Amino acid sequence: MTKQNHSSAQTSDQTCGKDRVFIFDTTLRDGEQCPGASMTFEEKLEVADILDALGVDVIEAGFPIASQGDFESVSEVARRVKNASVCGLSRASAKDIDRCAEAVRHGRIPRIHTFISTSPVHMQYKLQMDPEKVLELIASSVSRARNHVEFVEWSAEDGTRTEHDFLCRAVETAINAGATTINIPDTVGYTTPDEYRALFEMVRSRVPNADKAIFSVHCHDDLGLAVANSIAGVQGGARQIECTINGIGERAGNAALEEIVMALRTRADILPFTNGIDAKLLTRASKLVSAVTSFPVQYNKAIVGRNAFAHESGIHQDGMLKNAHTYEIMTPESVGVQKTSLVMGKHSGRHAFKEKLKELGYELGDNELQVAFTRFKDLADRKKIVYDEDIVALVDDEIVSSHERIKVVELTVVAGTKGPQKAALTLDFDGELKTHQATGNGPVDAIFNAIHALAPHDAKLELYQVHAVTEGTDAQAEVTVRLSEEGNVVSGKGADPDTLVASARAYVAALNKIMARRGRERLEAIATV
Ligand code: KIV
Ligand code: ZN
Repeated sequence: MTKQNHSSAQTSDQTCGKDRVFIFDTTLRDGEQCPGASMTFEEKLEVADILDALGVDVIEAGFPIASQGDFESVSEVARRVKNASVCGLSRASAKDIDRCAEAVRHGRIPRIHTFISTSPVHMQYKLQMDPEKVLELIASSVSRARNHVEFVEWSAEDGTRTEHDFLCRAVETAINAGATTINIPDTVGYTTPDEYRALFEMVRSRVPNADKAIFSVHCHDDLGLAVANSIAGVQGGARQIECTINGIGERAGNAALEEIVMALRTRADILPFTNGIDAKLLTRASKLVSAVTSFPVQYNKAIVGRNAFAHESGIHQDGMLKNAHTYEIMTPESVGVQKTSLVMGKHSGRHAFKEKLKELGYELGDNELQVAFTRFKDLADRKKIVYDEDIVALVDDEIVSSHERIKVVELTVVAGTKGPQKAALTLDFDGELKTHQATGNGPVDAIFNAIHALAPHDAKLELYQVHAVTEGTDAQAEVTVRLSEEGNVVSGKGADPDTLVASARAYVAALNKIMARRGRERLEAIATV
């Protein structure tokens, strides 16, 4: 076991046992940064709420200098989060740091996270700075951040490809300037567990003031090693793990929070580290992040994939019936998966529906509940069996669309062997209904043409994907649409037993995200077309 002095380095009201590992969630920053995963303001607040309920220690809520939208969402997350420390990212410039300080200042425990590259390749080509200049900027940025807040994290971008002597000088400089957390990221997902562990041991033993800060891991998954590397870093003395729900993040993503938490918990016999996460909320958090980003969770994804606790082969099922320990190293309930799958039907009432939602981890307000219940009844009329997965898809769809300014109201499609196929579509633009009829090369094309005519835009369709939520021909379809405009990629999801309605909803959901990015003025222009 490793020892570390947490005294001045961590938030005053967190448990600082020597083997407490702090969970720093960056779903709203590194996660949101990946192409197609952008979230609206309201969606970010929902994610922040579940992260806080989950018990993460730090929520990195965004990059305030990046845009007015990022600034506003970081500020609002800082205001509303009750337990976690809220952090914003900033480069090493005074302007970035001051903006970040302004955004996090209403947080209970505000933190500024400032970074600069330290590897030869980044310093030479990206920064075009010599190492001495980088050291100067580390000192000035960290001390400027410390003038604003008590908790300052400094990151050595591309830390795992940094020369050791320089990395030690950089870390010592940052701690001298007042950094309370030192993050050594594996920015490009290049390291291996043994190497990363040794890196932390090396830095902690060579840097004279290392005991004044908490060390942090931040791993990308380019080689599929992000979780293994993060745990190895902790074994090397790091006591903060940076991760995201479902592992979303730049390129191949970041280390997945749910995998780290369950690995630490399931192998506590050889990984004696504690954290404050309520694992029962992991499934719910995963579903919410998947719904708001429209990034599906792969079926065989560890912990939160829909097959993670499914036993298909006869031998496995036989073993499970005799004793669940034969093939399960953790219980589905421990991560919030409910046992029952078949539950509700058209005779189920409002009360039963509300109870079911509670069981699935949703607490809806009265209005949202009423709308979701109406949609459930409609679904139960059209579909023989309503599974938990159907309810989750329906409610996620409702939560996402309730904040949308453009909504699908009515759709009629003429399809079949004789083209062209036709779609008549009515959209609601902030309360104003508009209808258009379009033709297309297939019904989906006709629908998308109708949307285009009602809401003209330059976004390009990058992806159209359909999958069935459950089995059977009456299963709900879940459609994902990805659009790109001026380098921004957004995704939208829609669910309905009718694949074409789900397609219209998904396209409109993606369009709403583009509108949210562009700002109100353009939306108003479109609505008046
Ligand atoms: O991957 C990385 O290096 C980062 C830093 C900004 C911490 O995300
Ligand atoms: Zn990163």
